[in-house]
Amino acid sequence: MKGLILSGGAGTRLRPITHTSAKQLVPIANRPILFYGIDDMAAAGITEVGIVISPATGHEIRDAVGDGSTFGVSVTYITQDEPLGLAHCVQIAHDFLGDDDFVMYLGDNMLEQGLAGFVAQFEDTRTAANTPQLGEAPTVSPAAQILLAEVDDPTSFGVAELNEADQVIRLVEKPSNPPSNLALVGVYLFDKTIHEAVAAIEPSPRGELEITDAIQRLIDDGHTVVHDVLSGWWIDTGKKDPLLECNRLVLDSLEQRIDGAVDADSIVEGRVVVEGGATVINSTIRGPAVIGAGSVIDHSHIGPYSSVGIDCRITRSEIDNSVVLRRSVITDIPRLTDSLIGRDTEVERDQRRPRATRLMIGDHCHIGIE
Ligand code: DAU
Repeated sequence: MKGLILSGGAGTRLRPITHTSAKQLVPIANRPILFYGIDDMAAAGITEVGIVISPATGHEIRDAVGDGSTFGVSVTYITQDEPLGLAHCVQIAHDFLGDDDFVMYLGDNMLEQGLAGFVAQFEDTRTAANTPQLGEAPTVSPAAQILLAEVDDPTSFGVAELNEADQVIRLVEKPSNPPSNLALVGVYLFDKTIHEAVAAIEPSPRGELEITDAIQRLIDDGHTVVHDVLSGWWIDTGKKDPLLECNRLVLDSLEQRIDGAVDADSIVEGRVVVEGGATVINSTIRGPAVIGAGSVIDHSHIGPYSSVGIDCRITRSEIDNSVVLRRSVITDIPRLTDSLIGRDTEVERDQRRPRATRLMIGDHCHIGIE
């Protein structure tokens, strides 16, 4: 079994962050989202992992992941010249995948439940089907296994329709009239049959080769597609609010660890990580929260569900439920909440007259002034 992680794409829903960096590298609890997926592959016993990257952000992903040895896997990079769809990724990865079974994982998805059980289930069902026991009816070997989760708004996902026998009969990508509330989670298991299905489909109205259409093709051609309904949380982190929610869920599992310097005037409460080289001066850190290496928190309050990246400086400010990326500076801001702050950013109270909001912001930003 091989692994294929999709880390290309345009990341339009996380602009402006993705103007300058890959969305799969946005940190959750100060660790790139993508790293959790690679860890999951390794934990499922998968050692050969292909990562699809884009020409624009691929170098950053290569720099962060390297050859995969720190994760216990061996990584092969596959460059996708244009984001032509998830099934296009399978097409360009064919040489790497060969005829092997593989698990495909969307690099911006995060799951509470690891991959191991899901992978073992696919392998066991296929082995059982290929070695029928005497006296037992033969079972059909599945060509694919998909993972479904109940969601409130299925229109933003691939959606599955099941029949009364609980079999998948139809899959539609981002339907305006969803046939169910069961969304396709970004984890798929395939055998080599998927390559024929991918070759047989046409681009969708949005110009992409959809993996949803390829799986539908498997069903139409009489192959078996089995499914599992997810237990535990799952987040497609491709937008700001789900990203903050994912950050909250991961921070909730933190253990307290204070490696940095916290002065006697500061209070640290709950599940808080202060990395080595960070400094906390006359401040309150109320967990769950993480403060990255080299950051300085000075006369400030860092409230629950905040992740402050490395080398940030937060002075006379109050922050909660926010993700602050590396080297950012926040000064004299009384209350910053529900925010995603990019790298090398400055947010400060301007004392000049006339009192006004003065902005120098990039394209596709969102500013919510109190
Ligand atoms: O998150 C689950 C959903 O993911 C599924 O329910 C949908 O059926 C599936 O189509 C997909 O929808 P998204 O619109 O959220 O996919 P997105 O464009 O965000 O791409 C998912 C990942 O794949 C992301 O890490 C970027 C990468 N990607 C995407 C495209 C289109 C590529 O590497 N190359 C591509 O061409």
